[in-house]
Amino acid sequence: MNFLETDSETTFMEREQRYGAHNYHPLPVVLEKGKGVFLWDIKGKRYFDFLSAYSAVNQGHCHPRIIGALKTQAEKLTLTSRAFYNNKLGELEAMMSKLFGFDKVLLMNSGVEAVESALKLCRKWAYKVKGIPENKATIIFANENFHGRTISVISASTDDTAKSGFGPFVPGFVHIPYNDLHALETILEADPYIAGFIVEPIQGEAGVIVPDANYLAGVSALCKKYNVLYIADEIQTGIARTGNFLCSYDITAPAHQPDVLILGKALSGGVMPVSAVLANDEVMLTILPGEHGSTFGGNPLACAVALEALQVAIDEDLSGNAQKMGALFRDGLREIAAETGIITTVRGKGLLNAIVIDCPETSDMAWRLCLKFAENGLLTKPTHGNKIRLAPPLAISKEQINESLEIIHKSLKEYAQKL
Ligand SMILES: Cc1ncc(COP(=O)(O)O)c(C=O)c1O
Repeated sequence: MNFLETDSETTFMEREQRYGAHNYHPLPVVLEKGKGVFLWDIKGKRYFDFLSAYSAVNQGHCHPRIIGALKTQAEKLTLTSRAFYNNKLGELEAMMSKLFGFDKVLLMNSGVEAVESALKLCRKWAYKVKGIPENKATIIFANENFHGRTISVISASTDDTAKSGFGPFVPGFVHIPYNDLHALETILEADPYIAGFIVEPIQGEAGVIVPDANYLAGVSALCKKYNVLYIADEIQTGIARTGNFLCSYDITAPAHQPDVLILGKALSGGVMPVSAVLANDEVMLTILPGEHGSTFGGNPLACAVALEALQVAIDEDLSGNAQKMGALFRDGLREIAAETGIITTVRGKGLLNAIVIDCPETSDMAWRLCLKFAENGLLTKPTHGNKIRLAPPLAISKEQINESLEIIHKSLKEYAQKL
């Protein structure tokens, strides 16, 4: 069956509704092409992409160098499994190990798989190195965290929608408020069986919650003091998104480096699922052959793509651009907020930003505003009710930021007129 020539937008949407699981609620646009900061729908309408596939497309859609690497490698070798060595895995591991300052790298596929791997490493380290009695290790999570969708990871979620109907849950996880060093120290002092603390340097899904400037340094110091692993989940914040190559520490002058670093999403420039856990030998070598794995993890195609995606982020100084354009963007948003009165808060770092809309969390106002943005040529989606995340690809220019601000301004004015 070839519907593609004649199908209308409605047909594409109805087909997904009819034959696909209903685990997402997409905005009603049907996309067929992407280039740089832009997406096009099947009718040829162009949009600024202000979601970047939840910060996976930091390098821009279909970056020619990354697609080139994909094509070259795809014609040579795609998958060997880890039953054998391949000539790409070690190259990526060496590059990442030197770039981020860790002894070892473990390659996986989706983000949540890397989170799972980090949790397993943390438990193994707790038993083999720290000496916690078997099955007693506890890992601390922050309230309102988001680390993915598997059973064990949602067991540590505080979001009812993510959890409801999926129990029973995995034990061994406790919660503390985000951005609260006192709460962290209190629990570390009280419980000798704590193995680690996993934390997002900025809580993206929760609505781009930026912690205090000293928070992560404080987390690092406390974790060191109490001999527990500080695990930074940089799946969303990593690879230049927040104006530095990583959000949790400076890779050129590491201080407060986490014990375990988790990357995903933009590690491949959004071209294919590639994720990674990085740690030093004391942690990584606690897992032995046969104790953990993945058929596709570390496949040569993924490695070739990730090598190029990282190099593109470095060569194009995406961190520097994210820092400059982010500041410009937030200034513009604040002016719009003051004028329109619909936005209560503008927050973010680099090009990971959010606006909070002046309405209850349960209102559909943010959703309707996103429809208005789409009508005017800019795509994004609400995250948690009244918050709208704004996170374009990182090579966005000053002119494009200004054009995007105009679209946002126009949309808010048009929306206000209808209220
Ligand atoms: C901080 C963080 N961790 C983990 C994940 C899960 O990644 P994936 O959807 O690739 O499994 C996400 C996805 O949004 C994320 O933002």
